[in-house]
Amino acid sequence: MKKIALGCDHIGFELKAKIVAHLQLRGVAVVDKGAWSDERTDYPRYAAAVAEAVLAGEVEGGILICGTGVGISITANKFPGIRAVVCSEPYSAQLSRLHNNTNVLAFGSRVVGSELAKMIVDAWLGAQFEGGRHQARIDAIGEVEARFGHRPATDCG
Ligand code: RB5
Repeated sequence: MKKIALGCDHIGFELKAKIVAHLQLRGVAVVDKGAWSDERTDYPRYAAAVAEAVLAGEVEGGILICGTGVGISITANKFPGIRAVVCSEPYSAQLSRLHNNTNVLAFGSRVVGSELAKMIVDAWLGAQFEGGRHQARIDAIGEVEARFGHRPATDCG
């Protein structure tokens, strides 16, 4: 991937700056979708901006950072066509590209340190989707999205 959009909330802001610098050193072009300070904000907004950039073809993939990576990846996965993985180690990041063709990587700045985060990013960027039998499973995800994608969420309470 040669062009990546990044997004974070206030908790992920400091780590995002380090990941931007790391990507630029690797020759990857970065589109920064915010947040642009550590002032308190809400992660869904930045997850949406990155997901929309990926789906529009503005970038080839996205990286999202919040405190845990959970809220921001949940939001990204609400967009049909987005396959976001939240990782705290490189193995799952690599396999998520090889088998699941993930187009968004998320992690938590309260979970991983910056050096581990860079290893996760490198593992994710360095792996290519293998296709083959995995493509049929990706197609099946698309069928689920088509069936349930536009239904309003039900209240579990
Ligand atoms: C913000 O306090 C925190 O909830 C957020 O960064 C993230 O961890 C949510 O999943």
